[in-house]
Amino acid sequence: MEIIEIKHPLIEHKLGILRDKKTGTKEFRELISEITLFLCYEAMKDAKTYEEEIETPITKMTVNKLNENHYVFVPILRAGTGMIDGIVKMIPNAKIGHIGLYRNEETLEPVKYLFKMPKNIKDKETIIIDPMLATGGSGCAAIQMLKDEGVKNIKFLCVIAAPEGIKRMQKEHPDVKIYCGKIDDHLNDIGYIVPGLGDAGDRIFGTK
Ligand code: PRP
Ligand code: URA
Repeated sequence: MEIIEIKHPLIEHKLGILRDKKTGTKEFRELISEITLFLCYEAMKDAKTYEEEIETPITKMTVNKLNENHYVFVPILRAGTGMIDGIVKMIPNAKIGHIGLYRNEETLEPVKYLFKMPKNIKDKETIIIDPMLATGGSGCAAIQMLKDEGVKNIKFLCVIAAPEGIKRMQKEHPDVKIYCGKIDDHLNDIGYIVPGLGDAGDRIFGTK
């Protein structure tokens, strides 16, 4: 199973500001959205296009277009919703499903509270979005929920991934390609990514 860490000076720069504890809510949200543009760009590299005849002001030509409706982006609530803005800037007609999960703070295991997908989800290409892949519990649970609905084509996009979460996802879902902005060092004893950026949901929504 592949893990793609996008190495680019612009991502490094934006991650540097994002991680800083002095960065406030407005800028944090904007940076999550901007980094998502890059992740989306990378994840769509193998997207299929169809041909269409158009006319430029000069001549007729054949262009290649994306069937935007074929793609379903699935944020894991809450923090994943902070990435929707970046996705719809790139693919305005993409469908959006929602998976509501939170981590039980003692067991670190995900607890499900919402699952709402567009119609015909099993025929679509689905891309789960969540800024953080920590233990991998939430990501793996979200992938399993989609697989239980018959979805075959799944990718996972995150801003920061911990080696522990990558390992778990590779073991449980070797067919799912992961795209991330950075692979960090490790998890601390309460399941936070080190060096990380703290609690992504709280920083996006200003809840702490
Ligand atoms: C965060 C994050 C992921 C999860 C990652 O969500 O957005 O969904 O933790 O951790 P894991 O890989 O160990 O499962 P959180 O549970 O804090 O909920 P929130 O987004 O509502 O803040
Ligand atoms: N969830 C977060 O928001 N941050 C972490 O470091 C780990 C899980």
